[in-house]
Amino acid sequence: MTAIDTSPSPETRAITQSPGQRVALVTGAAGGIGREIVRGLMARDYLVYLSSRAAESAQQAVDTLMDEAPRGEVRPCVLEMTCTEHLRDVIAMIKARDGRLDVLVNNAGIYLEAPHLEPARPTLALEQPVEMVRESLETNLLGAYQLTQLAVPLMQRHGEGRIVNVSSGSGQLAEMGAGDIGYRLSKAGLNAMTRVFAAELQGSGILVNAMCPGWVNTGVGGPDAPRTPQQGADTALWLATLPDDGPSGGFFRDRQPIAW
Ligand SMILES: NC(=O)c1ccc[n+]([C@@H]2O[C@H](COP(=O)([O-])OP(=O)(O)OC[C@H]3O[C@@H](n4cnc5c(N)ncnc54)[C@H](OP(=O)(O)O)[C@@H]3O)[C@@H](O)[C@H]2O)c1
Repeated sequence: MTAIDTSPSPETRAITQSPGQRVALVTGAAGGIGREIVRGLMARDYLVYLSSRAAESAQQAVDTLMDEAPRGEVRPCVLEMTCTEHLRDVIAMIKARDGRLDVLVNNAGIYLEAPHLEPARPTLALEQPVEMVRESLETNLLGAYQLTQLAVPLMQRHGEGRIVNVSSGSGQLAEMGAGDIGYRLSKAGLNAMTRVFAAELQGSGILVNAMCPGWVNTGVGGPDAPRTPQQGADTALWLATLPDDGPSGGFFRDRQPIAW
């Protein structure tokens, strides 16, 4: 499998990065909240890399967004969060083509215990097989961890950056209850990771924050969720475009700090 495919379809707009144009990477963005984050960044004139595990899904989403958006640019890339080679390749490709990365949104995620998924899977810590927990951690936490490690040096080249980790209230220790053990561990880990990177990058111009989108009508949230993907994307967009004196090391929902 080709790790990345950034060639635009002939129908799409010619790709021309304006000098100084900001560059963003949003993972798991062919649909759901991620696609709305891409749409919002394009509206703010960013050049955005949109990733999916499937090249066709990424290209379809890019074609749709390019047709709709009056500004910004979007390019597809293939990224499996559990594949180190993909993670390295996508950052190397952005470095070679654009020489900069301003925003990383770690949005890709799975919620294997989701009640709307068939067949239902074990959710209790007493019952869930460790392989299922491992899959959640590999995808939601370790993939984001490694991608962040790879992305930071590219941000450090120009002395600023914004990293947004799309977490969940399910990862809040303050609210921690029974069930959803793999998902909860992965998002609690993502929250811890947010604080550690924020502390290590303090004063570097790179702001690192986590957010919860609320309960959103997507593949993860299911059809009964009350929020639209656009509503779910709002706080992530706000964090991705913070001014230099914005917060770092925080956890937010609806642009307000929430308990860890
Ligand atoms: N919806 C909610 O109610 C809710 C609540 C709290 C937090 N969140 C978080 O919001 C984020 C976005 O989810 P969503 O609600 O927009 O659901 P979604 O539409 O299912 O989006 C999740 C995306 O993650 C990607 N993905 C899954 N496994 C992957 C892997 N192994 N490697 C690379 N990409 C992978 C999928 O992309 P491809 O299939 O195209 O590869 C998928 O589009 C997730 O981190 C989720 O935990 C959602």
